[in-house]
Amino acid sequence: MNREDLQNEEKNRVSFINSNNGMRYERCSGSGGGVAAADDTITVGFSQVGAESDWRTANTESMKSTFSEENGYELIFDDAQQKQENQLTAIRNFIQQEVDYILLAPVTETGWDTVLQEAKDADIPVIIVDRMVDVSDDSLYTTWIGTDSLLEGRKAAEWLNAYTTAKGIDAKDVNIVDIQGTIGSTAQIGRSKGLEEGVDNYGWNLLAQQSGEFTQAKGQEVMESMLKQYDNINVVYCENDNEAFGAIDAIEAAGKTVGSDIANGEIMVMSFDTTNAGLTDTLAGKIACDVECNPLHGPRAEELIKALEAGEEVEKLNYVDEEIFATDDTVDKVKAVNSLDEEGEYDVTPITQEIIDGRAY
Ligand code: AHR
Repeated sequence: MNREDLQNEEKNRVSFINSNNGMRYERCSGSGGGVAAADDTITVGFSQVGAESDWRTANTESMKSTFSEENGYELIFDDAQQKQENQLTAIRNFIQQEVDYILLAPVTETGWDTVLQEAKDADIPVIIVDRMVDVSDDSLYTTWIGTDSLLEGRKAAEWLNAYTTAKGIDAKDVNIVDIQGTIGSTAQIGRSKGLEEGVDNYGWNLLAQQSGEFTQAKGQEVMESMLKQYDNINVVYCENDNEAFGAIDAIEAAGKTVGSDIANGEIMVMSFDTTNAGLTDTLAGKIACDVECNPLHGPRAEELIKALEAGEEVEKLNYVDEEIFATDDTVDKVKAVNSLDEEGEYDVTPITQEIIDGRAY
């Protein structure tokens, strides 16, 4: 199955309209009927952003396989189709249904104060997953689990600097376009900022920034229009793998060559996520550097719920460690500062088929 088929299959599988309240939700365990679950079953409402990317599909799968009936859960899953208004409706439905926990993967950072206050008033703990929320009062959610998007962006920028320096390419000859993620999402804010800091630090030319909404179709459309506007693009900074797939298609359709040899006219594509398809393109030399964003949050969210069930305190922010993969070994390490202001040194792993085969997503 190719990546588009996978995305379509996911879309069809996770969404249906409940005729009573118009909410797109799927009850993932039990035999239907009443919302109340058996006494020892933990009911979890999960508001998912959508099914926009391979990463998101892997994230949904991780949640569904963790919060299964066999594991003692009833999962009420809602696909918001990338719309915050759908997420607000879903959360209000979860509150009405008196779920034990709400899991929220927020589409953007702002706009959550009121609904999270409603969940708090109903005494329902909220666990934020993946992207962050920007709220006036941190007690509106219980805990957060996800990735450090700013660190991801900084790793990518440091890799680009190390790579171009190693190849003797002058910073003023590096002409970048940034296909951004969904504007206002943590993943976009952090990755765009990481690049912008690199531009300030190293003096590259940032020709344009435009959102590709984390989808392949939009990534392709944006790349097509950027190629028409600029004839000197030699680096495309895609803020996720699906945008990179679209950008690669657009570059090749324009008769240009995707690759790392930018001194000889190739256009380098960089990306985030390290999905199987993304790393396959990295192995083929089409994505020069792919910075990991790990989607397997199901077991991590379950660990937090188990701790809360046991009456334990949990950390407010729970960051996941992530790797960097590249087509070749030109750069073997990068130094970067994370969101907590700690500097770290991170290995860059040249990708192999064996690594791809051994990965879960
Ligand atoms: O928030 C994580 C981002 O959202 C992933 O990079 C992207 O693929 C997804 O849609």
